[in-house]
Amino acid sequence: MHILGFDCYGHDAAAAIMRDGKLLGLVEEERFLRQKHVASFPIHSIRWCCDHVGIKPAELDHIVYYWDPRAARLARAWFLLRHLPKSIGLIKSRGDKEASMLRLRKTLAKQLQLDGRTVIHFAPHHLCHAASAFLTSAFDKAAILSIDAAGEWDCAWMGYGDGIDMKCLRREHFPNSLGLVYGAVTEFLGYRFASGEGKVMGLAPYGDPGRFIQQFRDMIKTTPDGRYGVDMSYFNYQYHGRSNWFSKKFFDTFGPPRKPASELTDHYKDVSAALQMRTEEVGLYMAKWLRQQTGLNKVCLAGGVCLNSVMNGRILREGVFDEVVVQPAANDAGTALGGCFWLWNTVMRKPRKYIFEHAYLGPAWSDEQYERAVRQEIKSKHQVEIEKVKDAPSLAASMLSDGKIIGWFQGRMEMGPRALGNRSILADPRVGKMKDLLNERVKFRESFRPFAPSILEEKIGQWFDCGYPSPYMILVYNVLLEKRKYIPAVTHVDGTGRVHSVNRKHNPRYYGLLTEFERLTGVPIVLNTSFNIRGQPVVNKPEQAIECFVNTGIDVLFLGDYVLSKQVVSTAKDRN
Ligand SMILES: [Fe+2]
Repeated sequence: MHILGFDCYGHDAAAAIMRDGKLLGLVEEERFLRQKHVASFPIHSIRWCCDHVGIKPAELDHIVYYWDPRAARLARAWFLLRHLPKSIGLIKSRGDKEASMLRLRKTLAKQLQLDGRTVIHFAPHHLCHAASAFLTSAFDKAAILSIDAAGEWDCAWMGYGDGIDMKCLRREHFPNSLGLVYGAVTEFLGYRFASGEGKVMGLAPYGDPGRFIQQFRDMIKTTPDGRYGVDMSYFNYQYHGRSNWFSKKFFDTFGPPRKPASELTDHYKDVSAALQMRTEEVGLYMAKWLRQQTGLNKVCLAGGVCLNSVMNGRILREGVFDEVVVQPAANDAGTALGGCFWLWNTVMRKPRKYIFEHAYLGPAWSDEQYERAVRQEIKSKHQVEIEKVKDAPSLAASMLSDGKIIGWFQGRMEMGPRALGNRSILADPRVGKMKDLLNERVKFRESFRPFAPSILEEKIGQWFDCGYPSPYMILVYNVLLEKRKYIPAVTHVDGTGRVHSVNRKHNPRYYGLLTEFERLTGVPIVLNTSFNIRGQPVVNKPEQAIECFVNTGIDVLFLGDYVLSKQVVSTAKDRN
């Protein structure tokens, strides 16, 4: 039986394909359309999913959409009516999405040429998030915490999973949303909602949270019964939607918004620090309540706010739960797979037989395709040396230790927002200037953003203050004090690192590269950043990798076993 899950019309459209209870693929539409966070109907992703399992879309048995337009209809209507005429803006801003959803059956039938045999389901949004983390985990029982901007009506869902069922203990509904507050302040700071939140998290350690923390504690209050409540007098989004986030009170408190790309003054850094601190406090508070209520020592996290790897890391390191599983596509892209499991396990009552062990679930390319791409894209071969090698991981490790910047394109593309060693740009973490060099020559991104360390899974505890695996770069740990001097390029200004632990079984080539790098340097860590340049999605095709290689300061590109080297390279060591 084939089940397709997908999301669209919000942000991060994606599709996932399941056969008989096993997840076989997931890909985000942005990788095809080359536009970050794209929300349109994911026709390319759906086609890829079907091609991948060798069926036509019309042969799908079930399709699950990540949203139930009928959910909480009365509550939504009552809210809008109660706040008329102010709520006209919200009605307009949500109108397009709702209208597209109402047409969804027709859209599916037309785009996929369905002939009537495929059953279409509309799944509750937070159950898709919850299912994506819990039903694919190795846990029989675990607490579940799903926090995002907003689903149909709910903005946070707290409960637990038991076997194939997920029970809700508490939910917070619109407009009481941690994700919307974080997204709103992200906009205030000059970045985009549902896109720039990670930048704000990276900026926060540069600021002083003490300056505005009381204002954020007044804005988001916690209550003894485990709830949080946003003081909506700071905001307008509840009436006008995202076109008008703030009330006068917000600007009176925090001053004028920062213009995009303008100077980042201490004022804005301090706002980001306080926002981040309050988000961590409230997330920890919710997690503690959930632990108390369930008595369970494991938790599964999902929802866009759970991309906040600093908050997630604290939930684990501060012992709120002993084990923490975070869905790597914690954003809405992950609901594509969550919808499949919600249908298979919870609705159809099928036993669980799949454990999510790695994120390498996207498209892969054959040797012939690599070769063809090289032939077509590298027009002037005298500037690029091309060879096929037997031991790419060892060669790459050696080049990294010589200070070269490497494009590393291997195997199946990762799902989720992070590059996990298959569509990555790699560099030497020991070189202090590497961060600036990468920004200047390749990534062209904000200088304050940290680069992440990939580390051999067995070695995490020797370098960080927590030894728990972090395979999806979604938990932040402290770099041990005595180790910071060895890996300056991946140690953030506050001494932390967004850890990516690499497992031998799930990525043997990348594991081999790290092992060789350790043999050469004594450091089992490389700097890993996503294979893209600023503003573009991660590369999907070999052609895109070559284009990025040719047009940036990447020194060497590894396409599987093909090695493309520029004749003139300038290494970090040359510059130091
Ligand atoms: Fe969501």
